[in-house]
Amino acid sequence: MTNTAPVPVRRDLSDAPLLVAARGGVPSRTPVWFMRQAGRSLPEYRKVREGIAMLESCLTPDLACEITMQPVRRHGVDAAILFSDIVVPLYAAGIGVEIVGGVGPVVANPVRTKADVDALPDLTAEQVAPVADTIRLLTAALGDTPLIGFAGAPFTLASYMIEGGPSKNHERTKALMHSAPDVWHALLGKLAGITTEFLRVQVEAGIDAMQLFDSWAGALSERDYREYVLPHSTRVFDSLRDAGIPRIHFGVGTGELLVAMRDAGADVVGVDWRIPLDEAVRRLTAARPDGPAPVVQGNLDPALLFADWPVLEKEVRRIHAEGKAAAGHIFNLGHGVLPDTDPEVVTRVTELVHALS
Ligand code: CP3
Repeated sequence: MTNTAPVPVRRDLSDAPLLVAARGGVPSRTPVWFMRQAGRSLPEYRKVREGIAMLESCLTPDLACEITMQPVRRHGVDAAILFSDIVVPLYAAGIGVEIVGGVGPVVANPVRTKADVDALPDLTAEQVAPVADTIRLLTAALGDTPLIGFAGAPFTLASYMIEGGPSKNHERTKALMHSAPDVWHALLGKLAGITTEFLRVQVEAGIDAMQLFDSWAGALSERDYREYVLPHSTRVFDSLRDAGIPRIHFGVGTGELLVAMRDAGADVVGVDWRIPLDEAVRRLTAARPDGPAPVVQGNLDPALLFADWPVLEKEVRRIHAEGKAAAGHIFNLGHGVLPDTDPEVVTRVTELVHALS
């Protein structure tokens, strides 16, 4: 007799330390992974990427699967993060964007007017089918290790769309936000739709947790964040609540925005290295004294991976201890692994975090 019951796409990983911590439970050890752990610092990554463009590698399932697996094999981290980029759904939807070496994403026709926004396409699931294929390969290859899917949040995507590329001051973005709020909200609404669809495809393919990167949100005041950004990030998180998997929200320099970013609907709040984790927990708890205790992720300064080991060890121990203030702590960096990082140091930090728990 053949079994006709549908095979569930999501693995049962209820004991995985990352997922236990994300829900505020007591994991068997402190989970650790590193933002930008795939690619960058790994020689095995540079080898497989040779001669293949960044966006092409994100949309080649075998290759993207291999790159995602590399840091899991090498470091023994508690999660894989899908090898992709925040501009992948824009590119897949047909928006003219490329990743230029040494620069980052470059947008051919920056968005400045309502007509520019109206001309932007939506994203369909078929356009990111290779990403779903990559996720299916990964859930088969990863064993008990959870897979984190991700997308860029509407504000951070908007900054690239408006500026035309990476920006230090986000001046055109802020000018548009304040001078033409109708155009702004139309653009963020569009991007929220693309982000939601991209994450939904990942959920349906089997990711175990998701991270929404609002990397550049820290450039905003809390007032502007709440007025111009929060409604759109909230829409993304709300649309994905029914997935039932942890939703992580991260930005750089967001000490003043942590409460607002949690209000967007995050289960786990990412913290960069600028404020101690126990202070982040204090701020989050004060904002919702009767709510569930906060879960945080972070927050080793990525530059400290270049320091002498005794210094680094002390920092890892401090952060591990400060993380105890939270209902759950996922050890991570405060931002991505820097390209010149010695991968052996990353392995050593992983081992230390595991030994401390
Ligand atoms: O770092 C962050 O703030 C995370 C969010 C983010 C990603 N891409 C996720 C990502 C952001 C802001 C980007 C934009 C982007 N894309 C940049 C930054 C430019 C700027 O404004 O400063 C760059 C250089 C790219 C292009 C890119 N993305 C390359 C060349 C690579 C592969 C190698 C590398 O440098 O990591 C990526 C991969 C990428 N982008 C990943 C993620 C989560 C996957 C790698 C991983 O997480 O391990």
